[in-house]
Amino acid sequence: MKTMYWKDNHLFILDQTKLPHEIVYYQCKNYQDVIHTIKTLMVRGAPAIGVAAAFAMALAELAGDDLEKAAQEIKSARPTAVNLFWAVDRILEAKSAGISARDEALKMFEEDIQTNRRMGEYGARVIDDGDTVLTHCNAGALACVDYGTALGVFRAAVEQGKTIQVICDETRPVCQGARLSVFEMQQEGIPVKLIVDSAAGRLMQEGKIDKVVIGADRVARGGVANKIGSLMVALAAKRFDVPFYVAAPKSTFDSEISIYDVDIEERDPEEVLYFGECRVAPEDTQVENPAFDIVPSDLITGIITEEGIIEPF
Ligand code: MRU
Repeated sequence: MKTMYWKDNHLFILDQTKLPHEIVYYQCKNYQDVIHTIKTLMVRGAPAIGVAAAFAMALAELAGDDLEKAAQEIKSARPTAVNLFWAVDRILEAKSAGISARDEALKMFEEDIQTNRRMGEYGARVIDDGDTVLTHCNAGALACVDYGTALGVFRAAVEQGKTIQVICDETRPVCQGARLSVFEMQQEGIPVKLIVDSAAGRLMQEGKIDKVVIGADRVARGGVANKIGSLMVALAAKRFDVPFYVAAPKSTFDSEISIYDVDIEERDPEEVLYFGECRVAPEDTQVENPAFDIVPSDLITGIITEEGIIEPF
């Protein structure tokens, strides 16, 4: 199963809002369709958003659209994952060098898988045989083209013959952990358990978690931005001496800026007011729904990249 594929000059995106119940691909015929899939979380996860954005530029090129205008619109789809901006700028640079957007997007598609495999090899070095590892949100194949970043580290550890137990936080409000990470691990046959977000501290206190590995939407000076709830996990990990790793490709790095200057997306209150189709709060409930946390560098043990494991900066 692929997160997306390019066929007959159209982009087909696996609609992740329907997972794990239905496997349906949404056909994007123009760049506006791709923007729709990014905004509605049909495609989500920093690297996947980046590659989808590159293909959006390819669709704009094929339609003869104004590429600068398309670039601005695509970049405004979501604010936090830097991969979106990185991908669109890379396509514009390729175009200036005479390379077609479609060829560059296809190259980025292939690169993503290789990058994740290299990251997995480095990351697996910190995973010991018998470890129980916790992850938050979905930094898996579904958040990329394939293989994943944090879940790629777990996949690589298993490929090296290690036995691990994966614990997934549910990841309210959209439940990427419950719906996507558990699904991915089950598909791989990797032992996995689901917990509610608020149980992570309890499990660490009981000594039931050996390591935490999460992904990132942006790595900058002073820390990383990742799914809401990541900060609480990192604080608990620090308190109970559990090593806390972030797995992120260089395309997620924005090293010149402070992490506190990153635009944190605020999403629709409906995500909080409802659990799936079921309303859980009274009428007239006021809501704050920040989609991302900032995890400061002092809570991070190491950042796993495709070039090795580095110190947070
Ligand atoms: O809102 P989402 O589902 O796009 O958020 C995704 C995350 O926070 C992931 O952990 C992050 O993008 C890393 S994906 C390899």
